[in-house]
Amino acid sequence: MSSTPISASASPTQDELKAMVGRAALQFVVPGEIVGVGSGSTVNKFIDALASMKDQIKGAVSSSVASTGRLQALGIAVFDSNDVERLSVYIDGADEIDHQGNMIKGGGAALTREKIVAAQSARFVCIVDESKLVQTLGKYPVPVEVIPMAVQRITRQFAALGGRASLRLKDGEPLVTDNGQFILDVAGLQISQPQAFESEVSQWPGVVTVGVFAFQKAQVCLLAAPSGVKKLLF
Ligand code: A5P
Repeated sequence: MSSTPISASASPTQDELKAMVGRAALQFVVPGEIVGVGSGSTVNKFIDALASMKDQIKGAVSSSVASTGRLQALGIAVFDSNDVERLSVYIDGADEIDHQGNMIKGGGAALTREKIVAAQSARFVCIVDESKLVQTLGKYPVPVEVIPMAVQRITRQFAALGGRASLRLKDGEPLVTDNGQFILDVAGLQISQPQAFESEVSQWPGVVTVGVFAFQKAQVCLLAAPSGVKKLLF
């Protein structure tokens, strides 16, 4: 892993850090191509910055209904992922990232489509602020998209691993994802072997997607700090 400072700025707010790293990600967008676009508040800043390049790209493949709406509102064409074989780059945020580029994602409930678009991309560029960089994944509860009828059994399977799964709610009701499924947030896990964890949980019946991205990990992390944006390469 190498680390290279890109720029500096004085005492930025959290929102300014997100805007800084969103703009920094433009350097990875390949003119003339379609770019993979993730979801979340940091990616929203990237999408806003991407508007300045909209005449230089063919468009985007999006990982959520929310990002699709934001891209289209800015006049950026959105392609179905089935109509695009390969993307050079996928740009997305994360809830945690370790020093090898493994991530926890899904805080915005878009993990399944995020993993699909990441899988069709040659390079994952993760954009985060420095608070998201960890030694070991698991302080942030792991989001898992599940088929509703399997919620109780999957909850017990996580308990056997020492995890505490809670059903994510919105307005007092189970949150329903873009894919019509539920989210379990699993606290209390220390994920020292992300690939082994992702492999195991992905095989449990009823799991749609586990929010550990070890097989679709980042190759680049742009890390926003008050001193500037650093580039970590994995
Ligand atoms: C969306 O489901 C997530 O994977 C986001 O990428 C992640 O939660 C980071 O979001 P923020 O940029 O809003 O922190």
